[in-house]
Amino acid sequence: MSLAYEPEPPSVTVRAPAKINLHLGVGARRDDGFHPLATVYQAVGLYDDVTLTLDEEWGVSVRHDAGRPAAIVPLDEQNLAVRAAQMLLAHHGVDGAAAVHIRKSIPVAGGMAGGSADAAAALVATDRLFDLETSDDDLLAVAARLGSDVPFALLGGTAIGTGRGELVEPITDAGSWWWVVVGSDDALSTPQVYRSFDDLVGAGAPTEPVLPPALLLALETGDVGALADHLGNDLAEPALRLLPTLRDTFDDAAAAGARATLLSGSGPTVLLLCSDGSHAREVTAAMAERGHEHVVAVPAPVSGTHVLDVLDTLS
Ligand code: C5P
Repeated sequence: MSLAYEPEPPSVTVRAPAKINLHLGVGARRDDGFHPLATVYQAVGLYDDVTLTLDEEWGVSVRHDAGRPAAIVPLDEQNLAVRAAQMLLAHHGVDGAAAVHIRKSIPVAGGMAGGSADAAAALVATDRLFDLETSDDDLLAVAARLGSDVPFALLGGTAIGTGRGELVEPITDAGSWWWVVVGSDDALSTPQVYRSFDDLVGAGAPTEPVLPPALLLALETGDVGALADHLGNDLAEPALRLLPTLRDTFDDAAAAGARATLLSGSGPTVLLLCSDGSHAREVTAAMAERGHEHVVAVPAPVSGTHVLDVLDTLS
């Protein structure tokens, strides 16, 4: 038996939050196929942790902490975290590879930007593992190429999103909000929900959607009643058309005493606004009693993508 000391390869673990959209204003489809957005993003306390370990070749593995996923996470180079790591290395002209491990708590294909969170985490992990010292502007630019929600996952907090969602600007949020997140056994594909939006609204959608000023004021003042009155999501009806059983979740949320109910992004995750942490616990129990299996109370806003752990035996 050899007792020779074998150093572990360097590795970095990064945590990235899920996002919700307090308002998702969608405009008419652009020539490039994307839709112009006016949205308010908020990062919520539900996270994926991504570990990159230096390796000879690329690999990816996933552990699901929230039980059986509603959709499959790709385990090849289609995986957004792997693509993110490769894109950042290419941006710097650096060769390298890593084993990517994703510990998932954000619902897959749930409308909470879990794949985008993984990409954001992989960008920050790659930057640290390979000592790339990427500027914030470059990191945001690479993030935008990976997906509309990736820049916000880097930023966290509460922010306005414009363009196709990739242009982000932090805003004042005085609240300490609590949401109950109700997952679904079904998955919805984001492109499919946007197509349903095109069928329903089509050319009737504005070219430049706008944000309700009352929502921004509710955030500035931290007024939960005002926030409840001004939440909105233009993808709610298109998603309900694809998955009519979502209405039952909305009905259950009202019966459970939620202050307001909102579809998360393109769905099918549903968000229940609560008055505070103890109200969130009551609503969580009431939704579980009504037979909902994936129910979790989360605070918001939370910070963006950040390093959790570094194991660097090279230096
Ligand atoms: O940017 P991301 O890769 O997350 O977008 C996934 C899909 O969602 C796009 O291919 C497009 O079909 C749709 N989408 C859209 N308008 C947006 C964002 C996404 O039509 N603003």
